[in-house]
Amino acid sequence: MTSPIAVLSAMEQEGHLIEARLDELREETSFGRRYVSGLLAGNPIVTAVSGFGKAAAAATVAAVLERYSPSHVVFAGVAGGVGSGVEIGDIVIADRLVQHDFDASPIFQRFVIPSLGVAQIRADEQLTAALTAAAHDYLQGRYRKDMERVELAVFDSVRTRIHTGAVASGDRFVSHEAEARSLVSELPSVLAVEMEGAAVAQVCAEASVPFAVFRSISDRADESADVDFLAFIAEVAAPVTAGIVEQLLRGLR
Ligand code: ADE
Repeated sequence: MTSPIAVLSAMEQEGHLIEARLDELREETSFGRRYVSGLLAGNPIVTAVSGFGKAAAAATVAAVLERYSPSHVVFAGVAGGVGSGVEIGDIVIADRLVQHDFDASPIFQRFVIPSLGVAQIRADEQLTAALTAAAHDYLQGRYRKDMERVELAVFDSVRTRIHTGAVASGDRFVSHEAEARSLVSELPSVLAVEMEGAAVAQVCAEASVPFAVFRSISDRADESADVDFLAFIAEVAAPVTAGIVEQLLRGLR
């Protein structure tokens, strides 16, 4: 049996539409986490929901690596846009990830992960390129249909853009403009902030497993970050996640 691609998300609502598209679905539960495997577009895949934050994400991806030996890991879901021009509804693909709340100074420079010796962990280039192509194909294909009935006042699906750049992760939901601004002043290249990607990046880099992260921008990490959050996930992020993942698997093997 070929190794599956692992696709993880923090919340059930972000990834659940993938499950609905699987053939030969199998389900396992261990230590409170549910792993669903099957075939998507004829290719083996395993999905899991990590829960919020770096510890939950690291534990989940480590368990997935042990149990399923995936060839690649993809983490998907929503994020707050902090880069200029990164708007609600846009897609951010991480080319590198940083843990913005990690600080082992003065032993190591701020943000540097000691086991890796770097602050910014690079996503796998090939997988990220494949993901970028899949995102473009999805936006030009099924996306319009998926968004037909979406009526979110803050979101204009016609202008959806794909950005590639740094993503920052930390154990905090950023919902104050001042905090978002201070994060960007410390890490100027960051386009989006979320709570799991860089932890998955650390575990995968330590295990030499290629990984990639993409996010739908649900908010601008400011005082209105919680407005329509769940509606955005249900109506936009979930179909976008499933659409891009399906397109990725169609193109991979
Ligand atoms: N995920 C989605 N929006 C976020 C935000 N503003 N901060 C952290 N994680 C998020």
